[in-house]
Amino acid sequence: MTTKRNTIYVEEALVEYQARFDNGLYVISLAAPKTASHAKPGQFIHLQCDQSLPMRRPLSIMNTDGDCISIMYKVIGSGLEKLTQKRKGDTLNLLGPIGNGFENIDDKLIIGIGGGVGIPPVYFNCLSAKNAGLESVLFMGSEIGWPFDISIDQQKIYPSEPENMLCVSSLKKLNLSTRLASLSNEEGIYHGYVTELAKEWLNHADIDTTQCHIVACGPEPMLKSVAALAKEMNLSCDIAIEEFMACGIGGCAGCAVKVYSEDGSHTMQRVCVDGPVFKAESIYP
Ligand SMILES: Cc1cc2nc3c(=O)[nH]c(=O)nc-3n(C[C@H](O)[C@H](O)[C@H](O)COP(=O)(O)OP(=O)(O)OC[C@H]3O[C@@H](n4cnc5c(N)ncnc54)[C@H](O)[C@@H]3O)c2cc1C
Ligand code: FES
Repeated sequence: MTTKRNTIYVEEALVEYQARFDNGLYVISLAAPKTASHAKPGQFIHLQCDQSLPMRRPLSIMNTDGDCISIMYKVIGSGLEKLTQKRKGDTLNLLGPIGNGFENIDDKLIIGIGGGVGIPPVYFNCLSAKNAGLESVLFMGSEIGWPFDISIDQQKIYPSEPENMLCVSSLKKLNLSTRLASLSNEEGIYHGYVTELAKEWLNHADIDTTQCHIVACGPEPMLKSVAALAKEMNLSCDIAIEEFMACGIGGCAGCAVKVYSEDGSHTMQRVCVDGPVFKAESIYP
């Protein structure tokens, strides 16, 4: 992963809307023109969720629409709890866009694997890849629901797939195939881990696996499993990782993680500006 220093803007973002979904899941749209026009999938913002909070919260950019960025989040503690109280017309200070972001590989089929609140950067990447003319398929795993309109996909994405699986309606209209995974045993949703769903598709779809590239973000056990899948099937794989962050702009080294080279040696790199996207094998050798 090459490190590229991008400009980070400071903006007073205007809340455009905020929607609440089941299980404490929210989507907020913020008018932040500079961040929106420079945002790349895999990048994030560092958001002051309320003036009373000195520490910002890192949140991935899920999409851009004109001057606006959208963010999907699940409340963990006090900062995001305060964010849930923001309404249209409120302003929030943010730094963005931060980080290196995903690099799609020309001519490769992009396989997105997103888990929980790791879905946003992968969603954004698969959408951007599709808009750039690359083929893409998106697998999402969640135990907290879906902040999207979902509907039955009449088309199977591999011959032995059961009928009537669910997909994200808006992405289906763009010809971007999506599938959902959950342990909850709901009809139309793959029962199991999202990595098992991706593996099943890789094993049965009519594709040349040497032409596939995985991008993933999600909880650590999921990312380990994605890295193992990529290794087993000999696929290139980039993952966006999360780490606790203080400054979020490269100054404190509080987010440093071990990044391994092929010879087994490692360097400490900052997740905020050297990442958050790294080659899977450099984090899970
Ligand atoms: C690059 C990046 C992108 C992220 N994208 C998203 C996203 O799109 N949606 C989403 O819901 N969550 C995302 N997270 C996780 C999110 O930042 C934390 O869940 C959030 O900061 C928790 O804040 P809180 O006020 O609810 O909890 P608190 O427990 O009150 O937070 C206390 C402190 O811990 C830090 N913290 C707690 N959990 C995490 C964590 N997992 N990662 C980093 N810092 C943490 C907070 O920044 C804060 O300083 C992302 C994290 C990173 C690093
Ligand atoms: S959070 Fe300070 S260097 Fe990354």
